[in-house]
Amino acid sequence: RTLRIGLIPGDGIGREVIPAGRRILEALPSSLGLNFSFVDLDAGFDCFKNTGVALPDKTLDTLRKECDGALFGAVSSPTTPTKGYSSPIVALRKRLDLYANVRPVKSVKPTAAYPDPIDLVIVRENTQDVYVKEERTYELEDGTIVAEAIKRIDSKASSRIARMAGEIALKRRAIRETSGDNIGKQTMVTISHKSNVMSQTDGLFRSCARAALEEKRFVDGGIKIDEQIIDSMFYKLGRNPSPYDVIVAPNLYGDLLSDDAAALVGSLGLIPSANVGDGFAIGEPCHGSAPDIEGRGIANPIATLRSVALMLQFLDQEDAALAIEKAVDSQLLEGRFSTPDMGGNATTNEVVEDVLKRL
Ligand code: NAI
Ligand code: MG
Repeated sequence: RTLRIGLIPGDGIGREVIPAGRRILEALPSSLGLNFSFVDLDAGFDCFKNTGVALPDKTLDTLRKECDGALFGAVSSPTTPTKGYSSPIVALRKRLDLYANVRPVKSVKPTAAYPDPIDLVIVRENTQDVYVKEERTYELEDGTIVAEAIKRIDSKASSRIARMAGEIALKRRAIRETSGDNIGKQTMVTISHKSNVMSQTDGLFRSCARAALEEKRFVDGGIKIDEQIIDSMFYKLGRNPSPYDVIVAPNLYGDLLSDDAAALVGSLGLIPSANVGDGFAIGEPCHGSAPDIEGRGIANPIATLRSVALMLQFLDQEDAALAIEKAVDSQLLEGRFSTPDMGGNATTNEVVEDVLKRL
């Protein structure tokens, strides 16, 4: 079977790590019976500066009409209002209805930040919340300037993201049972919210998520429903991440939580994600375009390589996904080459070569 993959490097280190993603797909053993074809696609802030649009129609059309999946690097979205610009990845998630952002956070060995094993998944709602980007600014009669943003939560999006979290929890338990690893871990979905303050928006998210997880297949599957108010969630996660299994959260909290969890396993350069809809997935490292290290060839490629595995998993290519995960885990475990974010002095390329050898 041939899968066609769209490659959208974007800006900054996106252009250094996405080629690594392509290389690992090309290096998959032929015994898996998978072939890949690639199409390079443009998006990002440089694209905006050059062409006036951050997400060209051609990119969206090609993804829709030709591609089975895609890899996205990162974009350098400016932190000041920029007329005509809007983040292309936020737009892609919405336009392709990639409603779940799945972010596994896993340590393969004790880290300086945290000695016990960490193995959890953050399932971030990917289409709503303050990311609907309906903001406005106006002035009061006394000259005070007011800015407002809509935080939109609906029952459909909240229920389906919770079901996705439930399915992932069931699947993780099945994997633990067959592999014998981490067998005692409680199968659990933790709903994160702030419904003590935002009783309507986060309140709706919370109640829909609970109702979805109380459906028969999740109850029969032995999933424990847990919930945690978001501020103490950060606290508890920071103190002891080991008990957490699957965490489901509205868009913004899910974004924040994943960078925090990344710190516990040692680097943002390790954490992958997949933007998942029905029948399509975009693999994307969690990190941004990292302008502070751009152009030096030292970006950690692991988050991207793991994002490739995650994309394959959601395209039902489990064997290929597992092969990449194993190669990456073994590379990290031996740790002979690591990039500076992890305390080493290897280049992106040296780490990629080492993973490819293990694959
Ligand atoms: P960032 O994630 O780009 O970087 C944060 C820190 O982590 C930096 O010190 C960076 O060097 C380090 N880091 C990140 N990825 C790394 C890797 N693979 N290897 C080694 N070190 C790594 O976040 P920051 O600096 O807040 O944002 C920079 C730009 O990225 C902004 O323009 C922001 O809008 C954009 N961004 C884009 C995202 C996306 O495209 N999905 C997500 C987050 C930020
Ligand atoms: Mg983020």
